Amino acid sequence: MNRLAGAHVLSVKQFDRALLEDVFGVARSMRVLVRSVGTADLLKGKVLTNLFYEPSTRTSSSFAAAILRLGGSVVPINDVHYSSVTKGETLEDTVRTLEAYGDALVLRHPELGAAARAAAVATKPVLNAGDGPGEHPTQALLDLFTILTEKLGVSPGSDTSTQRCLSGLRVALVGDLRHGRTVHSLARLLALYGAELHYVSPELLRMPEPLVRELAAEGARQEEHRELSEVLGAVDVLYVTRVQKERFADPDDYARVKDAYVIDETTMAAAPPGLTLMHPFPRVNEIDRAVDADPRAAYFRQMENGLYVRMALLAMVFGRAG
Ligand code: NCD
Repeated sequence: MNRLAGAHVLSVKQFDRALLEDVFGVARSMRVLVRSVGTADLLKGKVLTNLFYEPSTRTSSSFAAAILRLGGSVVPINDVHYSSVTKGETLEDTVRTLEAYGDALVLRHPELGAAARAAAVATKPVLNAGDGPGEHPTQALLDLFTILTEKLGVSPGSDTSTQRCLSGLRVALVGDLRHGRTVHSLARLLALYGAELHYVSPELLRMPEPLVRELAAEGARQEEHRELSEVLGAVDVLYVTRVQKERFADPDDYARVKDAYVIDETTMAAAPPGLTLMHPFPRVNEIDRAVDADPRAAYFRQMENGLYVRMALLAMVFGRAG
């Protein structure tokens, strides 16, 4: 049974290990499909609406590419300033309008809980593409898929191989852990498998206390650090994030922490040879461009995985796979 058929995708809390394995299995098939023939008719006739109240490059275009490669089509609203939102229309009214035209809605919005609000009025599936500083579940799925691919290769997986790979894996989440929704979602998924979580951030940008408590109650192994050097030599995955300028009330605070951690060739020289370096992008100054040529830099492969994972999610939400 495919539990995602007709469902909203609002939070990673909806995913248990069995469901994750289903998503990754379908994503692997999507990778084969894209690399062999490019497109399929699986979602022919389906229309996806992309509603983005915040800037996006990868999330909006990979969802669009995902539905197009599966034979469906997309109504893109990537700049709400040209829509009736500027006339004062509520999120709820906009959502009810768009679901009259499409079969599922991808929503990015600056407010925490916006996707849940949309889902409360929607009769068709809503996929959360980021709700302010809340969650970014589809990003976390592609991040976890990337870790597995980087560590295990592209062969078919199973819950046992996933567990073996992630249990005790030392993952450092670095940067803006307070506002960064990708790390909020990813930490939850990694905790399901007993990964060792190392939170590296300035005091001001610490992982939110309620989330740390939530994961501690589930028995997660979590440690906090101020300095990257405390973990760099013995880390398996370094997941670097942008300091979320748009979420700061005081620009001076932003200026103080914006370049707290910069990964450059010197950093990479001190990191283990088996490291996987990730970033959800966009990057500002967090990773020097000279690092891009390092085989441990996985962020461009991570983006590509976004396509396969979102194809899998759409196929499952539309009840055509899984
Ligand atoms: C992230 C986001 O929007 O949360 N981007 C993304 O979707 N890949 C990260 C960010 O904006 O820094």
